[in-house]
Amino acid sequence: MQCSWKTVILLALVSMPIQYTAMKIFMDLFVHKSQIPNLMNFGLGKDVKSFDRICDDYLYCNCSFSRKTHILILATTRSGSTFVGQLFNQYPDVFYLFEPLYHVQMTFIPHLSPSRYAVEHRVMLGASRDLLRSLYNCDLYFLENYIKPRPARHTTDKLFRRGASKALCSMPVCDAFSPSYGNVEEGDCVRKCASLNLTLATESCRERRHMAIKTVRIPEVNDLKALIEDPRLNLKVIQLVRDPRGILFSRIETFRDTYRLWRIWRDTGRKPYNLDLTQLTTVCDDFLNSVSTGLSRPPWLRGRYMLVRYEDLARNPLQKTKEVYKFLGLSLEKSVVDWIHNNTRGNNDESAKHKYGTLRNSAANAESWRLKLSHDIVDYTQTVCKHILDELGYKAVNSPEELKNMSLSLIEDKDFISVF
Ligand SMILES: *[C@@H]1O[C@H](CO)[C@@H](O)[C@H](O)[C@H]1NC(C)=O
Ligand SMILES: *[C@@H]1O[C@H](CO)[C@@H](O)[C@H](O)[C@H]1NC(C)=O
Ligand SMILES: *[C@@H]1O[C@H](CO)[C@@H](O)[C@H](O)[C@H]1NC(C)=O
Ligand SMILES: *[C@@H]1O[C@H](CO)[C@@H](O)[C@H](O)[C@H]1NC(C)=O
Repeated sequence: MQCSWKTVILLALVSMPIQYTAMKIFMDLFVHKSQIPNLMNFGLGKDVKSFDRICDDYLYCNCSFSRKTHILILATTRSGSTFVGQLFNQYPDVFYLFEPLYHVQMTFIPHLSPSRYAVEHRVMLGASRDLLRSLYNCDLYFLENYIKPRPARHTTDKLFRRGASKALCSMPVCDAFSPSYGNVEEGDCVRKCASLNLTLATESCRERRHMAIKTVRIPEVNDLKALIEDPRLNLKVIQLVRDPRGILFSRIETFRDTYRLWRIWRDTGRKPYNLDLTQLTTVCDDFLNSVSTGLSRPPWLRGRYMLVRYEDLARNPLQKTKEVYKFLGLSLEKSVVDWIHNNTRGNNDESAKHKYGTLRNSAANAESWRLKLSHDIVDYTQTVCKHILDELGYKAVNSPEELKNMSLSLIEDKDFISVF
């Protein structure tokens, strides 16, 4: 038994049935200021384990007194979240999951538009928080409650976009590719790795120093308050935003069925009377609520929230990525830098291969909507989303000429204070 005295004292304290609030005060007083291992891994608060067991867990995890960082990429569809996810997926010591909340959504509101049916939506949010808490705790079995058909013997081949997670396509979870193989294509992973063994995935999660989850299924940062305040987690939220005009354009191009009426408007110049406006207003309202909360710097978000504009990433991917890593307190790995170079250069021959909408000719891509959306749709969006455009520093255009004049930037330089 080789627990250091710090650990022993700490464990003595925490193995008493301390209540949540007491724990929280304790954590605030000590843990954030010193480098003490992450208590979350010990299952505190749920079931208090014996000293020996906790020490074993500690030695097993070999965390060298550094806390595990739980990263959440809070985004919306077509805002560049796949790209931001890759900044962590490419980091060898991060266990990255791509949209695990998809399964929760499919359980509670499989067919409905997420903006309707407030009750189902609240239930889904609660379930999503529970799932996130379990996942950050490397309890991947918890996902089985939502996967259909229900996994037998902890294996499944129905995990949504399994191939988008490097950790789930490499050792020990999958041995089809040697460690030197380079980047595994999503489809190759699904074809060549056998069914996903969630026991092995759990092991892989425990072995890695940090964990990152990307989601477009949590509307705003306020919905995460309970997780952010949970002393067993060390949650840091990267909120990714994008110009709503760019999001709208990208969705019209991508979701051909659900955004059909918008496409009719764009192609005919006539606004359909039955256009579903919530498809636009939900984005702007969620952004506004979330960003206003973040920028008002409430104590519960201190050191836990960073706002990133997709356009800033697109213009200066490496610089912005450095800032994100600095905020998280992680060092930037060469593999991430290499990946950025490979995927943002604007290399034309390569572009066909990268089909996940990551930034190729990045800066140009981020503003290409200006050449393809009509001025009346843009004008309409600017009216509906005026507050959030102002808040995020996206300038409105006053004429079709301004819209198409690409030497006129619509992105104000803006520094969002993220570390407070
Ligand atoms: C713990 O980590 C250190 C380096 O961080 C390593 O040298 C050592 O071998 C590890 N110990 C175990 C038991 O894994
Ligand atoms: C999954 O992996 C674990 C750990 O290696 C192993 O014990 C178990 O038999 C595997 N499950 C299946 C169904 O192969
Ligand atoms: C970058 O591209 C080179 C050449 O195509 C490739 O060998 C390398 O594995 C890539 N690295 C990453 C991190 O994508
Ligand atoms: C485009 O904008 C620039 C900068 O404001 C301006 O100098 C230029 O005259 C504009 N070009 C056209 C064609 O309007």
